[in-house]
Amino acid sequence: MSAEGDAKKRLAAQAALDYVVDGAVIGVGTGSTVNFFIEALIPYRNRVRAAVSSSNASTERLQAGGIPVLDLNEVEDLGVYVDGADEATRGLHLIKGGGAALTREKIVAAAAARFVCIADESKVVARLGTFPLPIEVIPMARSYVKRQLATHGGRAVWRQGVVTDNGNHILDVHGLTIDDPPAMESELNQIVGVVTVGLFARRPADVLILGTAQGIKVLPQK
Ligand code: A5P
Repeated sequence: MSAEGDAKKRLAAQAALDYVVDGAVIGVGTGSTVNFFIEALIPYRNRVRAAVSSSNASTERLQAGGIPVLDLNEVEDLGVYVDGADEATRGLHLIKGGGAALTREKIVAAAAARFVCIADESKVVARLGTFPLPIEVIPMARSYVKRQLATHGGRAVWRQGVVTDNGNHILDVHGLTIDDPPAMESELNQIVGVVTVGLFARRPADVLILGTAQGIKVLPQK
């Protein structure tokens, strides 16, 4: 990513601080945009009680910055979850999983009352699917799932060498026509051996903060 792209990610990450609720536990996602958010949060760490994290990588960064990390099972009330996206529509449907952390991301997003997505403006698309859709699969089901995805028009490529934090594999699916993201999410979730589909449409973001050349843009617009 260019310096300009990084500056836009930083803008979005910084703006997400406005959504942090004093004294609460905050959900923190994964990726380069979230890394800027963690960096921005560290000077204000006393504002939050602790964090719940969607990956080992983010957990390490949070702890190194003096922010305690709790297991989600210990947290009954998670107000806000901040995470990035690989693609986002103006309707706040997302593709996630470029960093292979999609399963924990989806769990934390589901548990949170509010999902604040942060991204640079290049992530906005009219229709999802140019970014190959990441799907986490049980390793022994990989080839089976790949064949099943072909019947849905998708060409699945195994992300070789990557093992998720849950011990699973990732397929990146090219060529899908995603006209109805919630329907496709439900459909692909039904394939036996699929752990998580990187479509975040049945539980979309609630707020999308975009870093743009003109500053911050927040969707939905008030
Ligand atoms: C991690 O698995 C992903 O879902 C990330 O949220 C996504 O890849 C965005 O990453 P960047 O912020 O690095 O673009």
